[in-house]
Amino acid sequence: MLRTYKDAVCLITGGASGIGEALGRELAGRGARVMLADRSPDEAARVASEIGATGGTAESVQLDVRDAEAFEAAVARVMRDHGRIDYLFNNAGIGVGGAFEEHTLDDWRYIIDVNVLGVVYGCHAAYPRMIEQGFGHIVNTASMAGQCATPGLAAYGTTKHAVVGLTRSLRIEAAQHGVRASAFCPGVINTRILDKGGEFGRVRGPAGVFELDATDTKRAMDVSEFARKALDQVAQNREIIVLPFMWTILRWIDRLSEGAMGRLQTYLYKRMNAESERRAQKHESAGTGS
Ligand SMILES: NC(=O)c1ccc[n+]([C@@H]2O[C@H](COP(=O)([O-])OP(=O)(O)OC[C@H]3O[C@@H](n4cnc5c(N)ncnc54)[C@H](O)[C@@H]3O)[C@@H](O)[C@H]2O)c1
Repeated sequence: MLRTYKDAVCLITGGASGIGEALGRELAGRGARVMLADRSPDEAARVASEIGATGGTAESVQLDVRDAEAFEAAVARVMRDHGRIDYLFNNAGIGVGGAFEEHTLDDWRYIIDVNVLGVVYGCHAAYPRMIEQGFGHIVNTASMAGQCATPGLAAYGTTKHAVVGLTRSLRIEAAQHGVRASAFCPGVINTRILDKGGEFGRVRGPAGVFELDATDTKRAMDVSEFARKALDQVAQNREIIVLPFMWTILRWIDRLSEGAMGRLQTYLYKRMNAESERRAQKHESAGTGS
């Protein structure tokens, strides 16, 4: 039977930073056994040892989610060590920002490899085991960019729509096996991804949410608060988990009138580009000492 969350066995990708790190800390605080998998092994090990120092149970593993075999091995290790897997959080992700014409084909392949195939590989490794054990919950981190248009983040939005589509289909299939699937659709959460798409991200031009400065990020949701509220909704087996709450309003505007949402986003996109231009000029004049 699925455990919430006491003694639950949880594998979290992207567990070294931001949302994945906060999920790890919150889950361990609720009594779960946590494995933090990340492309940055030292950071993941640091988070695991900090969790351990506060009485939680956590370990770390190096994993690049673009490597299907390595993902399979990480899930196999969880099964070998714990005999079960309650939760897989397919959370690792990067941002690529800029106008469509600024994206290279390599940008597209890269972000699809991480944000889409990374999630597919995780499901492919964990889902058959969950079917076999008759329980489990796959939670994929999508985004509000998977719910509505994202001018300036076309590649990112494309990957997040894919994650939402995958999760919704899987959820229906999985229910017949006693397995659950949900998607996080965060709005803007204060993590490193807001700085040029994260450590492994790319920014090609005016990139809105991926180039917020310190003043803007103060307005973003605190990541620990996100983890706390999101996990409460996972426990309720919600399909699409949108946080902060304000973003549910935008989601409904989009559903009720794509035209109204399109006009709102056109306005915001123009404003974002003007803001980017202003920032670039400020940096230029600071650089020239004027
Ligand atoms: N922060 C936000 O505002 C926001 C909003 C919506 C969705 N998201 C999504 O949340 C997820 C987590 O992002 P975050 O905001 O915590 O950013 P973050 O940059 O703080 O964390 C991302 C983590 O993923 C890891 N990672 C990147 N590429 C990887 C790979 N190939 N294999 C394994 N690990 C890899 C990074 O090392 C990092 O630890 C992402 O999927 C992101 O798209 C974030």
